[in-house]
Amino acid sequence: MVMVQICVGSSCHLKGSPEVVRLFERYVSENGLDDEVILSGSFCSGKCNRSGVTVTVNDKVHTGVTPANFKDFWNTEIIAALRAEKGD
Ligand code: FES
Repeated sequence: MVMVQICVGSSCHLKGSPEVVRLFERYVSENGLDDEVILSGSFCSGKCNRSGVTVTVNDKVHTGVTPANFKDFWNTEIIAALRAEKGD
């Protein structure tokens, strides 16, 4: 199971966390991963970036996630984390 926490603190909110949350929900459901990717919100982790949203994947903190780079982030971080878990 991959734990994804999307920062909903005020800085990340202004930089698009509601849209990033919607993208996560859509990708999880379109890929049938509801049991494997657990989405939750988190408060500010003090990593506010000049652009984008802070997303924590299994305790690894990533900054600067935006709707524009979301697909790359999904492929490099979420799919990679799922594969690592399955030992691929
Ligand atoms: S508001 Fe998201 S890391 Fe600070």
